[in-house]
Amino acid sequence: MPSTSTSTPGVRQTAFRFRCVACGDLSDQARQDFRCAHCGDLLEITYPQWKESAGAGPDLKSTWRQRRLSQSVVDLSGVWRFRDVLPRLERDDQAITLREGNTPLYELPQCARITGVPRLFAKHQGLNPTGSFKDAGMTVAATFARLAGFRWVACASTGNTSASMAAYAARGGMRSLVLVPDGKISWSKLSQALDYGAVTCQLRTDFDGCLRLLQELVLRAPVYQLNSINPFRLEGQKTLAFELLEQLDWQPPDHIIVPGGNLGNSSAIGKALVEMRDLGLISRLPKLSVIQAEGANALVRTLREASGKKLVSVQAETRATAIRIGNPASWKKAVHVLEATEGACEQVTEVEIAQAKAEIGAEGIGCEPASAVTLAGLKKLLKQGFVKPEESVVLVLTGNLLKDPDFTINFHRGQLFKGAPDEGASAVLNPLRRPPMILDATLDAVMRTLENAEKS
Ligand code: F0G
Repeated sequence: MPSTSTSTPGVRQTAFRFRCVACGDLSDQARQDFRCAHCGDLLEITYPQWKESAGAGPDLKSTWRQRRLSQSVVDLSGVWRFRDVLPRLERDDQAITLREGNTPLYELPQCARITGVPRLFAKHQGLNPTGSFKDAGMTVAATFARLAGFRWVACASTGNTSASMAAYAARGGMRSLVLVPDGKISWSKLSQALDYGAVTCQLRTDFDGCLRLLQELVLRAPVYQLNSINPFRLEGQKTLAFELLEQLDWQPPDHIIVPGGNLGNSSAIGKALVEMRDLGLISRLPKLSVIQAEGANALVRTLREASGKKLVSVQAETRATAIRIGNPASWKKAVHVLEATEGACEQVTEVEIAQAKAEIGAEGIGCEPASAVTLAGLKKLLKQGFVKPEESVVLVLTGNLLKDPDFTINFHRGQLFKGAPDEGASAVLNPLRRPPMILDATLDAVMRTLENAEKS
C-alpha cells in the first residue's frame, strides 16, 4: 500500500513536516488516517525552514503580483500562485488544477446598510470551479494523493467536498468513492459527484457516521482520504486568506467571519493568518469568528460548556445541510485559531439564516444557506458589541447559490418553514420573498404585475 510521506518521489524531502496538534510530535510520515501515531490526534503541516524566512514578506508579495501576469498553468491557479507557502512540488506540471481560487472580493452595499457596517465585504468562494471553497484545498490534496501513487481517493461529505473531490480525481486520472448521508444533501451537489464519475454511496446515517466509517475504511483499503482531516486540504484552503489580504493590499480587515461545520476551513484560514504575520506579510491579525447553525452548534457548546477543553458533540439538525455536523473533526484546531486571533464563536437560528441568505441574494451575489450564517452571525456580534460599526468585516461565502436551489425556491414560495415551529417568522421573512407567479399569457396580465411590483 503506498504511504503518504514527505519522502515520496516527487516531493522535496525537507520542505515540510507533519506535526500533531495535541502532542506536538513531528514526523515525515503520515498514516493513512492522518492521525498522530502517538496520541491519535490530528496532524498539521509545518515548514521548518520558515524560521529563516521571517523577513520574506516584501519578496513574496512581489513574486505573487508578477505571477498574475503569467500564463503558466500553476500561475493561473489562485492556489498554486501562492505555492511558496504550500508543500512544494518537484515540477509544476504535477499539480491537478482547475484554475481554482481567483475568487472575487465584493462590496455588499445593501447588507452594509442593513447592518450599519459601511466597510462590509464578501469573499465569494462559491465562484470556484465546482462552486465551493473546497476546490482550493482539493487541488493540493488530490495532487499529493496522485504523487503518493494512489488510484482511489475517498471522502465523507455533506455534498461540497464530494463534488470537488470527484472533479479533481477525474482531472487527475484517479477513481473516487463518495460517502454521503442518504437524503440529507442537496441534489445539485449529488449530481456533480455523479457527473464527475464518483462511485457514490448514500449511507443510512448522518455525516458524522459517514466520516467514522471512512476513517476505518482508509486503514483497511488503499484509498486516500480527502476529508479536511487531511492536512494537505487545509494548506490549499489557506490560500483563500492570502488572496484576500492581497486583494486588500495587505491591510488586514478587523474581522473575518466564516461558517463552521467540520471546522477545517476556519482552522485553515486561522493558520494562514498566523503564518502571514510570522512571514511579515501583515502587521496584525484580524479577528477570525466562526458561526454555526443553532442545531449544529458543537463548537459553540464546546467553548461555553467545556471552555474549549473537550468536544461537546451534538445530534446535528439544520436546513443548512452543508454544516449539518455534530462531531466536528477539526474542533481542536478551530479552538487554537480562535484563541490566536481573539475571535468569537456564535450560533444563529434557521430563520436568521434564511433571512440573511435572502439579503445576500438581493445583492445580486447569492450563496448557499451555510454561507449565509456569516451575515446572520455578524448581526449578533454587532449586537453584542464584539464587532463595532466602524470596523471592516469580511464574510467568507463558502458556496454558490445554485448548490441548493430547493432551499431557495421553498423560501420564496413560503414553504421553507411550513408546519415547522419557525413558521411564525413570516413577518420578518415575507418582505424578502419573491415567489414566482403563474399568469395567463397576456400583455395585460404582465403589465398589471409590473404595476403592482412598482407600487410594492
Ligand atoms: N460552507 C459550506 C458551503 C460547506 O460545504 C461546508 C462544509 C462548510 C461551510 C463548513 O466548512 O466543514 O470546513 O467547517 N462542507 C463539508 C462537505 C463538510 O462535506 O462538503 P468546514
